[in-house]
Amino acid sequence: MSQTNNSKSYKPFLKWAGGKQRLLNQYSQYFPETFNNYYEPFLGGGAVFFFLIDKLQINRRSYLFDSNEELINTYMVVRDQVEDLISLLFEHNEKHTKDYYYQIRSLDRKNGHLSKVERAARTIYLNKTCYNGLYRVNSHGFYNVPMGKYKNPRIVDQDLLRQSSKLLKKSVIKKSDFRFSSKGAKTGDLVYFDPPYFPLTSTSNFTGYTAYNFSEKDQIDLYKVYTDLTEKGVYCIQSNSDTDFIRDYYKKFTQIPIYASRAINSKSNGRKKISELLIINF
Ligand SMILES: C[S@@+](CC[C@H](N)C(=O)[O-])C[C@H]1O[C@@H](n2cnc3c(N)ncnc32)[C@H](O)[C@@H]1O
Repeated sequence: MSQTNNSKSYKPFLKWAGGKQRLLNQYSQYFPETFNNYYEPFLGGGAVFFFLIDKLQINRRSYLFDSNEELINTYMVVRDQVEDLISLLFEHNEKHTKDYYYQIRSLDRKNGHLSKVERAARTIYLNKTCYNGLYRVNSHGFYNVPMGKYKNPRIVDQDLLRQSSKLLKKSVIKKSDFRFSSKGAKTGDLVYFDPPYFPLTSTSNFTGYTAYNFSEKDQIDLYKVYTDLTEKGVYCIQSNSDTDFIRDYYKKFTQIPIYASRAINSKSNGRKKISELLIINF
């Protein structure tokens, strides 16, 4: 296992609920020193991908998946059309006001056609200006997060987008349910799973997590994926909640407590340190 931090620090171009950026210091020692291809079935902001990309050998690939179509479209556009994307983001930046935010937010309700690059620019613009970088849609699939309270939101970070575009060049990026994402993984590959967490209590409402409707059955299917990959000799690491359910299911695997600071529910004041688990099969 690796004992050192990455020499270069690449960071995500999106804010994402459940993003792992702040936990990477605690995670870094548990990643394997070397691995073949890299798989991430719950990509979100991709903090772990950007952290590990430096370790990917020249002849290897990363396979990045998420079930969120807008998110996946955004990654593909960053990889393939970054200059067009930056131009559109400059336009959003110039026009940004409260009214403009709600006008752009409502575009998904209007059935109008947006090109892939327009959709990606909308997603990044909303991500940078919305409340807490949340991605949440209502029962009709319409994005419904209110505007955040930023004085000067950083809507266009050209350098970061260009750097991300380069780093993504060798990635296969695809919308997929996690049940199918890592089917191609082979002995010596690494799969990092960051699913929506199993809830701490039946009523608990993690910021943004419950929006995915990730059920107990999904957690059990994920356990099956994890054990199948283990039998194939694939390195697997998973983040999940420190709950009896998860501890019990993964009892034959190494479980490392990780300390995360987070708002546990809407009634709690401020943030609390709670432990999460890192589940490792090697
Ligand atoms: C906790 S977030 C991942 C955070 C990410 N690791 C980061 O550092 O930003 C969970 C992700 O799982 C995705 N997701 C939810 N259900 C899924 C499913 N059934 N299959 C694939 N992805 C799913 C969500 O769209 C979300 O992006």
